[in-house]
Amino acid sequence: MASMHHSTPKGYGTASRWLHWITALVVLATVPAGVVMTGENLSRAMQNNLFIFHKNVGVVILLLVILRLGVRVFSSAAPLPDHIPAWQKRAAGVSHAALYTLLLVMAISGYVRVRAGGFPIEALDAIGVPPLVPRSDTVADTAKAIHSYARFVLIAFIALHVGAALQHGLVKRDGVFGRIWPPNAPR
Ligand code: HEM
Ligand code: HEM
Repeated sequence: MASMHHSTPKGYGTASRWLHWITALVVLATVPAGVVMTGENLSRAMQNNLFIFHKNVGVVILLLVILRLGVRVFSSAAPLPDHIPAWQKRAAGVSHAALYTLLLVMAISGYVRVRAGGFPIEALDAIGVPPLVPRSDTVADTAKAIHSYARFVLIAFIALHVGAALQHGLVKRDGVFGRIWPPNAPR
């Protein structure tokens, strides 16, 4: 079945690859922004700018994840190469699902925390999107707690994910990294 010219699967399509790297870039900027903006020793102006960046880019992440899941429904990835043990294939699947879920949890809890708290999301306000969430301190505090705890789980899975990716890309060099890089799928 596997011919010499197609001994390794090509991996993800171009749309999935671009969406992966755009999401990775904005997530890796949004997380430190969130940590820094809630820290101390920060000028008011700097804190304000980071909040505006964080909230609005966070909404972009939400839209990107929904788009990715949509693309995923229509073009799932080719199966991983045969040399990958079954437990690693399962672990990859579980951790990818966890990353999608955590991004949704972070983006939605952030949105609810801000809207239930009665605060602006500048880009959405500019185009007239209503808050969608009623004003409530209880809801805002709950969402804030979820946002704050889930961050540790997200960061742990990102570390695991990037570690595994580098292991494949730099140490094993087994073609797994080539499933998602470069952004334009080779033909
Ligand atoms: C610079 C850091 C990153 C590297 C090197 C990297 C690398 C990879 C690789 C090699 C794959 C393909 C795995 C496979 O063939 O099964 C992949 C898939 C994936 N990555 Fe990353 N990634 C990075 C950052 C991120 C970040 C920050 C996120 C989200 C928080 C993320 C989420 C995902 C998801 C959800 C998939 C699975 C795609 C799918 O099957 O739908 N990645 N990544
Ligand atoms: C996947 C997207 C997101 C990620 C990865 C993320 C990550 C983080 C992190 C790491 C923090 C610092 C931890 C903390 O103090 O709680 C934080 C704080 C915060 N984020 Fe996000 N966030 C995302 C989306 C959003 C969105 C969409 C909004 C609002 C529209 C938002 C609003 C906030 C606010 C207001 C805080 C400060 C919490 C506080 O009041 O102390 N985030 N975020």
